[in-house]
Amino acid sequence: MSTSSRIQGLYKLSVPERRRVVAAFAGIDADDPNLAALQDGVDPDLLDAFVENVVGAFPMPFGIAANFVVDGRDVLVPMVVEESSVVAAASNMARLARPTGGFVTELVGEEMIGQVQLRDVPDLAAAVAAIHSAREELIATARSFDSVLVTLGGGCQGLDVRTFTADQTGGDGDVIVVHFLVDCRDAMGANAVNSICERLAPRLAELTGATPGLRILSNLADRRRVRASCRVAAEALALDGHGGDEVAEAIVAAARFATYDPYRAATHNKGIMNGIDPVVIATGNDWRAVEAGAHAWAARDGSYRALSRWWRDEAGDLCGELELPMQVGTVGGVTRLHPLARLSLAILDVSTAAELGRVIAAVGLAQNLGALRALGTEGIQKGHMRLHQRNLELAADEG
Ligand code: MEV
Repeated sequence: MSTSSRIQGLYKLSVPERRRVVAAFAGIDADDPNLAALQDGVDPDLLDAFVENVVGAFPMPFGIAANFVVDGRDVLVPMVVEESSVVAAASNMARLARPTGGFVTELVGEEMIGQVQLRDVPDLAAAVAAIHSAREELIATARSFDSVLVTLGGGCQGLDVRTFTADQTGGDGDVIVVHFLVDCRDAMGANAVNSICERLAPRLAELTGATPGLRILSNLADRRRVRASCRVAAEALALDGHGGDEVAEAIVAAARFATYDPYRAATHNKGIMNGIDPVVIATGNDWRAVEAGAHAWAARDGSYRALSRWWRDEAGDLCGELELPMQVGTVGGVTRLHPLARLSLAILDVSTAAELGRVIAAVGLAQNLGALRALGTEGIQKGHMRLHQRNLELAADEG
Protein backbone atom coordinates (compact mmCIF):
# COMPACT_ATOMS: atom_id res chain seq x y z
CA MET A 1 0.00 0.00 0.00
CA SER A 2 1.46 3.38 -1.00
CA THR A 3 1.50 6.14 1.61
CA SER A 4 2.80 8.85 -0.66
CA SER A 5 0.33 11.29 -2.20
CA ARG A 6 2.82 11.94 -4.97
CA ILE A 7 1.14 9.90 -7.68
CA GLN A 8 2.57 10.50 -11.07
CA GLY A 9 0.19 10.25 -13.98
CA LEU A 10 -2.97 9.72 -11.91
CA TYR A 11 -4.74 11.58 -14.66
CA LYS A 12 -3.67 8.96 -17.20
CA LEU A 13 -5.44 6.11 -15.42
CA SER A 14 -8.98 5.00 -16.08
CA VAL A 15 -11.65 5.90 -13.51
CA PRO A 16 -11.75 2.35 -12.00
CA GLU A 17 -7.94 2.28 -11.84
CA ARG A 18 -7.89 5.61 -10.05
CA ARG A 19 -10.43 4.33 -7.56
CA ARG A 20 -8.20 1.35 -6.85
CA VAL A 21 -5.16 3.58 -6.33
CA VAL A 22 -7.03 5.90 -3.98
CA ALA A 23 -8.58 2.99 -2.08
CA ALA A 24 -5.16 1.40 -1.68
CA PHE A 25 -3.68 4.69 -0.46
CA ALA A 26 -6.44 5.11 2.11
CA GLY A 27 -6.55 1.43 3.09
CA ILE A 28 -10.13 1.05 1.94
CA ASP A 29 -11.31 -2.44 0.99
CA ALA A 30 -12.13 -2.91 -2.67
CA ASP A 31 -15.62 -4.04 -1.65
CA ASP A 32 -16.26 -1.20 0.82
CA PRO A 33 -19.85 -0.01 0.18
CA ASN A 34 -18.80 3.64 0.46
CA LEU A 35 -16.47 3.09 -2.46
CA ALA A 36 -19.30 1.50 -4.39
CA ALA A 37 -21.31 4.69 -3.86
CA LEU A 38 -18.79 6.47 -6.08
CA GLN A 39 -19.95 4.39 -8.99
CA ASP A 40 -23.63 5.14 -8.80
CA GLY A 41 -25.26 7.86 -10.78
CA VAL A 42 -23.66 9.76 -13.57
CA ASP A 43 -21.47 8.03 -16.14
CA PRO A 44 -17.91 8.34 -14.80
CA ASP A 45 -16.51 8.85 -18.28
CA LEU A 46 -18.61 11.99 -18.57
CA LEU A 47 -17.38 13.27 -15.22
CA ASP A 48 -13.85 12.41 -16.25
CA ALA A 49 -14.20 14.94 -19.05
CA PHE A 50 -15.15 17.71 -16.60
CA VAL A 51 -12.20 17.70 -14.20
CA GLU A 52 -8.91 15.93 -13.64
CA ASN A 53 -8.20 12.78 -11.67
CA VAL A 54 -11.85 11.77 -11.35
CA VAL A 55 -12.55 8.76 -9.16
CA GLY A 56 -16.32 9.06 -9.17
CA ALA A 57 -19.10 11.38 -8.14
CA PHE A 58 -20.01 12.83 -4.76
CA PRO A 59 -23.77 12.51 -4.62
CA MET A 60 -25.52 15.21 -2.66
CA PRO A 61 -29.19 15.23 -1.79
CA PHE A 62 -31.20 16.46 -4.76
CA GLY A 63 -34.39 17.87 -3.29
CA ILE A 64 -37.33 19.71 -4.74
CA ALA A 65 -38.75 22.88 -3.20
CA ALA A 66 -42.47 23.01 -3.84
CA ASN A 67 -45.09 25.75 -3.75
CA PHE A 68 -43.20 28.44 -5.64
CA VAL A 69 -45.03 30.94 -7.78
CA VAL A 70 -42.58 33.16 -9.62
CA ASP A 71 -43.93 35.91 -11.85
CA GLY A 72 -47.30 34.20 -11.93
CA ARG A 73 -45.89 30.81 -12.89
CA ASP A 74 -45.91 27.71 -10.70
CA VAL A 75 -42.38 26.40 -10.37
CA LEU A 76 -40.82 23.34 -8.77
CA VAL A 77 -37.27 24.12 -7.72
CA PRO A 78 -34.48 21.52 -7.75
CA MET A 79 -32.04 22.10 -4.89
CA VAL A 80 -28.79 20.24 -4.36
CA VAL A 81 -27.80 20.78 -0.74
CA GLU A 82 -26.65 18.83 2.30
CA GLU A 83 -28.04 21.13 5.01
CA SER A 84 -31.17 19.93 6.79
CA SER A 85 -34.22 22.16 6.59
CA VAL A 86 -33.16 24.27 3.59
CA VAL A 87 -35.58 22.64 1.15
CA ALA A 88 -38.35 22.46 3.75
CA ALA A 89 -37.96 26.12 4.71
CA ALA A 90 -37.96 27.29 1.08
CA SER A 91 -41.09 25.26 0.35
CA ASN A 92 -42.81 26.57 3.48
CA MET A 93 -42.09 30.19 2.76
CA ALA A 94 -43.14 29.78 -0.87
CA ARG A 95 -46.43 28.42 0.47
CA LEU A 96 -46.94 31.48 2.68
CA ALA A 97 -46.25 33.84 -0.23
CA ARG A 98 -48.63 32.04 -2.64
CA PRO A 99 -51.93 33.68 -1.64
CA THR A 100 -50.41 37.14 -2.19
CA GLY A 101 -49.06 36.29 -5.64
CA GLY A 102 -45.78 34.59 -4.81
CA PHE A 103 -42.57 36.22 -5.98
CA VAL A 104 -42.17 39.01 -8.48
CA THR A 105 -38.79 39.30 -10.12
CA GLU A 106 -36.98 41.46 -12.61
CA LEU A 107 -33.72 41.62 -14.42
CA VAL A 108 -31.50 44.62 -13.72
CA GLY A 109 -28.99 44.64 -16.57
CA GLU A 110 -27.54 41.80 -18.59
CA GLU A 111 -23.87 42.62 -19.01
CA MET A 112 -20.87 40.76 -17.70
CA ILE A 113 -17.69 42.73 -17.11
CA GLY A 114 -14.30 41.75 -18.52
CA GLN A 115 -11.25 43.49 -17.11
CA VAL A 116 -8.00 44.33 -18.86
CA GLN A 117 -5.43 45.74 -16.48
CA LEU A 118 -2.80 48.07 -17.94
CA ARG A 119 0.14 48.70 -15.63
CA ASP A 120 2.83 51.39 -15.60
CA VAL A 121 0.87 53.69 -17.86
CA PRO A 122 3.37 56.35 -18.97
CA ASP A 123 0.82 59.16 -19.34
CA LEU A 124 -2.53 58.50 -17.70
CA ALA A 125 -4.48 61.35 -19.30
CA ALA A 126 -3.14 60.63 -22.80
CA ALA A 127 -3.79 56.91 -22.42
CA VAL A 128 -7.38 57.43 -21.29
CA ALA A 129 -7.94 59.77 -24.23
CA ALA A 130 -6.43 57.24 -26.65
CA ILE A 131 -8.76 54.50 -25.41
CA HIS A 132 -11.77 56.78 -25.69
CA SER A 133 -10.86 57.72 -29.26
CA ALA A 134 -10.52 54.06 -30.18
CA ARG A 135 -13.74 53.08 -28.37
CA GLU A 136 -15.76 52.24 -31.51
CA GLU A 137 -12.89 50.24 -33.00
CA LEU A 138 -12.38 48.31 -29.75
CA ILE A 139 -16.06 47.49 -29.38
CA ALA A 140 -16.35 46.45 -33.03
CA THR A 141 -13.29 44.21 -32.69
CA ALA A 142 -14.68 42.65 -29.50
CA ARG A 143 -17.97 41.97 -31.27
CA SER A 144 -16.21 40.45 -34.27
CA PHE A 145 -14.80 37.60 -32.12
CA ASP A 146 -18.18 36.03 -31.48
CA SER A 147 -20.59 36.49 -34.32
CA VAL A 148 -23.01 33.89 -32.93
CA LEU A 149 -23.42 35.87 -29.71
CA VAL A 150 -23.95 39.06 -31.71
CA THR A 151 -26.55 37.35 -33.93
CA LEU A 152 -28.39 36.35 -30.76
CA GLY A 153 -28.52 40.01 -29.72
CA GLY A 154 -25.53 39.90 -27.36
CA GLY A 155 -21.82 40.63 -27.57
CA CYS A 156 -19.77 43.57 -26.40
CA GLN A 157 -22.06 46.54 -25.72
CA GLY A 158 -19.57 49.12 -24.53
CA LEU A 159 -16.55 49.81 -22.41
CA ASP A 160 -15.63 51.73 -19.29
CA VAL A 161 -12.24 53.09 -18.35
CA ARG A 162 -11.15 53.19 -14.71
CA THR A 163 -7.91 54.64 -13.39
CA PHE A 164 -5.73 54.14 -10.34
CA THR A 165 -2.75 56.38 -9.56
CA ALA A 166 0.66 55.08 -8.55
CA ASP A 167 0.06 56.02 -4.90
CA GLN A 168 -3.00 53.72 -4.89
CA THR A 169 -1.49 50.74 -6.68
CA GLY A 170 1.63 50.24 -4.54
CA GLY A 171 4.03 49.00 -7.19
CA ASP A 172 2.02 48.87 -10.42
CA GLY A 173 2.56 52.54 -11.29
CA ASP A 174 -0.37 54.39 -12.81
CA VAL A 175 -2.96 51.81 -13.81
CA ILE A 176 -5.87 51.78 -16.23
CA VAL A 177 -8.49 49.08 -16.02
CA VAL A 178 -10.64 48.75 -19.11
CA HIS A 179 -14.01 47.10 -18.58
CA PHE A 180 -15.58 45.39 -21.57
CA LEU A 181 -19.33 45.16 -21.03
CA VAL A 182 -20.56 41.97 -22.62
CA ASP A 183 -24.10 40.69 -22.98
CA CYS A 184 -23.57 36.92 -22.88
CA ARG A 185 -27.25 36.07 -23.50
CA ASP A 186 -27.93 32.61 -22.03
CA ALA A 187 -24.34 31.73 -21.22
CA MET A 188 -22.68 32.56 -17.93
CA GLY A 189 -20.14 33.96 -20.31
CA ALA A 190 -16.74 33.40 -18.75
CA ASN A 191 -15.27 32.08 -22.00
CA ALA A 192 -16.68 34.83 -24.19
CA VAL A 193 -15.58 37.57 -21.80
CA ASN A 194 -12.11 36.18 -21.12
CA SER A 195 -11.48 35.73 -24.85
CA ILE A 196 -12.36 39.36 -25.52
CA CYS A 197 -10.03 40.51 -22.73
CA GLU A 198 -7.12 38.35 -23.85
CA ARG A 199 -7.47 39.25 -27.50
CA LEU A 200 -7.82 43.00 -26.99
CA ALA A 201 -5.09 43.46 -24.37
CA PRO A 202 -2.27 43.83 -26.97
CA ARG A 203 -4.19 46.54 -28.82
CA LEU A 204 -4.83 48.38 -25.54
CA ALA A 205 -1.15 48.14 -24.66
CA GLU A 206 -0.30 49.57 -28.07
CA LEU A 207 -2.75 52.45 -27.63
CA THR A 208 -1.51 53.38 -24.17
CA GLY A 209 2.16 52.38 -24.08
CA ALA A 210 1.34 50.46 -20.88
CA THR A 211 2.24 46.95 -19.83
CA PRO A 212 -0.73 44.58 -20.16
CA GLY A 213 -1.59 42.93 -16.86
CA LEU A 214 -4.47 40.60 -16.02
CA ARG A 215 -7.22 39.86 -18.52
CA ILE A 216 -10.20 38.21 -16.89
CA LEU A 217 -13.88 38.69 -16.12
CA SER A 218 -14.95 40.34 -12.88
CA ASN A 219 -17.19 38.31 -10.60
CA LEU A 220 -18.54 41.55 -9.23
CA ALA A 221 -21.12 41.29 -12.01
CA ASP A 222 -22.97 44.39 -10.87
CA ARG A 223 -24.30 45.09 -14.35
CA ARG A 224 -26.08 41.73 -14.45
CA ARG A 225 -28.37 41.68 -11.47
CA VAL A 226 -31.71 40.20 -10.50
CA ARG A 227 -34.27 41.50 -8.08
CA ALA A 228 -36.99 39.50 -6.35
CA SER A 229 -39.74 40.76 -4.10
CA CYS A 230 -42.69 39.32 -2.24
CA ARG A 231 -45.49 40.34 0.07
CA VAL A 232 -46.85 38.06 2.76
CA ALA A 233 -49.98 38.69 4.81
CA ALA A 234 -48.95 39.15 8.45
CA GLU A 235 -51.48 36.60 9.70
CA ALA A 236 -49.91 33.94 7.47
CA LEU A 237 -46.67 34.30 9.45
CA ALA A 238 -48.09 33.21 12.80
CA LEU A 239 -46.02 30.44 14.35
CA ASP A 240 -46.20 28.35 17.51
CA GLY A 241 -48.18 30.77 19.65
CA HIS A 242 -46.60 33.86 18.08
CA GLY A 243 -49.23 35.98 16.35
CA GLY A 244 -48.73 37.13 12.76
CA ASP A 245 -48.21 40.78 13.72
CA GLU A 246 -45.58 39.88 16.25
CA VAL A 247 -43.76 37.65 13.76
CA ALA A 248 -43.84 40.28 11.02
CA GLU A 249 -42.35 42.83 13.44
CA ALA A 250 -39.72 40.33 14.53
CA ILE A 251 -38.71 39.70 10.90
CA VAL A 252 -38.40 43.43 10.20
CA ALA A 253 -36.29 43.86 13.32
CA ALA A 254 -34.10 40.87 12.44
CA ALA A 255 -33.49 42.30 8.97
CA ARG A 256 -32.71 45.72 10.44
CA PHE A 257 -29.94 44.17 12.55
CA ALA A 258 -28.24 43.11 9.31
CA THR A 259 -28.30 46.68 7.97
CA TYR A 260 -25.92 48.03 10.60
CA ASP A 261 -23.81 45.10 11.79
CA PRO A 262 -21.58 43.37 9.23
CA TYR A 263 -21.16 40.36 11.53
CA ARG A 264 -24.92 39.83 11.39
CA ALA A 265 -25.10 40.78 7.70
CA ALA A 266 -22.67 37.96 6.84
CA THR A 267 -24.96 35.39 8.48
CA HIS A 268 -28.09 36.98 7.07
CA ASN A 269 -26.57 36.73 3.59
CA LYS A 270 -25.39 33.17 4.24
CA GLY A 271 -29.04 32.33 4.85
CA ILE A 272 -29.91 33.84 1.47
CA MET A 273 -27.16 31.84 -0.20
CA ASN A 274 -28.62 28.72 1.46
CA GLY A 275 -31.41 29.11 -1.06
CA ILE A 276 -29.37 30.36 -3.98
CA ASP A 277 -26.41 27.97 -4.11
CA PRO A 278 -28.45 24.75 -4.21
CA VAL A 279 -30.26 25.89 -7.35
CA VAL A 280 -27.05 27.17 -8.90
CA ILE A 281 -25.45 23.78 -8.22
CA ALA A 282 -28.46 21.79 -9.41
CA THR A 283 -28.35 23.60 -12.74
CA GLY A 284 -24.62 22.99 -13.24
CA ASN A 285 -23.64 26.60 -12.70
CA ASP A 286 -20.60 28.08 -10.99
CA TRP A 287 -21.70 28.74 -7.42
CA ARG A 288 -18.33 30.20 -6.44
CA ALA A 289 -18.85 32.94 -9.01
CA VAL A 290 -22.35 33.66 -7.72
CA GLU A 291 -21.09 33.68 -4.12
CA ALA A 292 -18.19 36.01 -4.96
CA GLY A 293 -20.52 38.38 -6.78
CA ALA A 294 -23.09 38.39 -3.99
CA HIS A 295 -20.64 39.24 -1.24
CA ALA A 296 -18.74 41.84 -3.27
CA TRP A 297 -22.09 43.47 -4.09
CA ALA A 298 -23.02 43.40 -0.40
CA ALA A 299 -19.87 45.40 0.33
CA ARG A 300 -20.20 47.78 -2.61
CA ASP A 301 -20.44 50.97 -0.55
CA GLY A 302 -17.46 50.14 1.65
CA SER A 303 -19.24 48.35 4.46
CA TYR A 304 -20.71 44.89 4.22
CA ARG A 305 -24.51 44.91 4.31
CA ALA A 306 -27.56 42.71 3.94
CA LEU A 307 -28.53 41.76 0.39
CA SER A 308 -32.23 41.93 1.26
CA ARG A 309 -34.54 44.24 3.16
CA TRP A 310 -37.87 43.65 4.88
CA TRP A 311 -40.55 46.15 5.88
CA ARG A 312 -44.31 46.37 6.47
CA ASP A 313 -46.63 48.16 4.09
CA GLU A 314 -49.64 50.29 4.99
CA ALA A 315 -51.88 47.22 5.25
CA GLY A 316 -49.43 45.64 7.68
CA ASP A 317 -48.32 42.99 5.20
CA LEU A 318 -44.68 41.97 5.28
CA CYS A 319 -42.72 42.98 2.18
CA GLY A 320 -39.27 41.79 1.19
CA GLU A 321 -36.84 42.54 -1.59
CA LEU A 322 -33.56 40.95 -2.59
CA GLU A 323 -31.14 42.16 -5.24
CA LEU A 324 -27.80 40.68 -6.22
CA PRO A 325 -25.54 39.96 -9.19
CA MET A 326 -26.53 36.77 -10.97
CA GLN A 327 -23.97 35.22 -13.31
CA VAL A 328 -25.60 31.99 -14.41
CA GLY A 329 -26.28 30.35 -17.74
CA THR A 330 -28.52 27.79 -19.35
CA VAL A 331 -26.04 27.01 -22.11
CA GLY A 332 -22.31 26.41 -22.00
CA GLY A 333 -20.24 25.02 -19.15
CA VAL A 334 -21.72 21.83 -17.77
CA THR A 335 -25.31 23.07 -17.85
CA ARG A 336 -26.10 21.11 -20.99
CA LEU A 337 -23.57 18.32 -20.51
CA HIS A 338 -24.51 17.11 -17.04
CA PRO A 339 -27.69 15.04 -17.20
CA LEU A 340 -28.80 16.24 -13.78
CA ALA A 341 -28.28 19.87 -14.75
CA ARG A 342 -30.39 19.21 -17.83
CA LEU A 343 -32.95 17.54 -15.62
CA SER A 344 -32.98 20.54 -13.26
CA LEU A 345 -33.51 22.98 -16.12
CA ALA A 346 -36.32 20.78 -17.39
CA ILE A 347 -37.96 20.67 -13.94
CA LEU A 348 -37.66 24.44 -13.64
CA ASP A 349 -38.91 24.77 -17.21
CA VAL A 350 -36.58 27.66 -17.94
CA SER A 351 -34.58 28.10 -21.09
CA THR A 352 -32.97 31.50 -20.65
CA ALA A 353 -30.34 32.61 -18.18
CA ALA A 354 -32.57 35.53 -17.24
CA GLU A 355 -35.48 33.25 -16.30
CA LEU A 356 -33.18 31.01 -14.31
CA GLY A 357 -31.57 33.91 -12.46
CA ARG A 358 -34.95 35.32 -11.54
CA VAL A 359 -36.17 32.04 -10.05
CA ILE A 360 -32.90 31.73 -8.13
CA ALA A 361 -33.40 35.19 -6.60
CA ALA A 362 -36.94 34.23 -5.54
CA VAL A 363 -35.61 31.15 -3.76
CA GLY A 364 -32.95 33.26 -2.01
CA LEU A 365 -35.62 35.62 -0.72
CA ALA A 366 -37.84 32.74 0.44
CA GLN A 367 -34.93 31.16 2.27
CA ASN A 368 -34.10 34.45 3.96
CA LEU A 369 -37.70 34.79 5.09
CA GLY A 370 -37.66 31.29 6.55
CA ALA A 371 -34.49 31.99 8.52
CA LEU A 372 -35.67 35.36 9.88
CA ARG A 373 -39.07 33.95 10.85
CA ALA A 374 -37.45 31.15 12.79
CA LEU A 375 -34.79 33.38 14.34
CA GLY A 376 -37.34 36.02 15.34
CA THR A 377 -39.53 33.45 17.11
CA GLU A 378 -38.54 30.00 18.30
CA GLY A 379 -34.91 30.20 17.13
CA ILE A 380 -33.49 27.86 14.55
CA GLN A 381 -32.30 25.10 16.84
CA LYS A 382 -35.70 23.53 17.43
CA GLY A 383 -36.30 22.81 13.73
CA HIS A 384 -32.65 22.05 13.07
CA MET A 385 -32.40 19.66 15.98
CA ARG A 386 -35.52 17.81 14.85
CA LEU A 387 -33.86 17.14 11.50
CA HIS A 388 -30.45 16.63 13.03
CA GLN A 389 -31.97 13.97 15.28
CA ARG A 390 -33.24 12.21 12.17
CA ASN A 391 -29.69 12.30 10.72
CA LEU A 392 -28.29 10.87 13.95
CA GLU A 393 -30.85 8.09 13.88
CA LEU A 394 -29.94 7.33 10.28
CA ALA A 395 -26.24 7.29 11.17
CA ALA A 396 -26.95 4.96 14.11
CA ASP A 397 -28.91 2.62 11.82
CA GLU A 398 -25.93 2.52 9.48
CA GLY A 399 -23.91 1.27 12.45
C1 MEV B 1 -28.02 28.74 8.75
O1 MEV B 1 -27.52 27.89 7.73
C2 MEV B 1 -28.53 30.02 8.16
C3 MEV B 1 -28.97 31.07 9.18
O2 MEV B 1 -27.93 31.30 10.12
C4 MEV B 1 -29.31 32.32 8.42
C5 MEV B 1 -29.59 33.53 9.28
O3 MEV B 1 -29.07 33.61 10.42
O4 MEV B 1 -30.29 34.43 8.79
C6 MEV B 1 -30.15 30.58 9.98
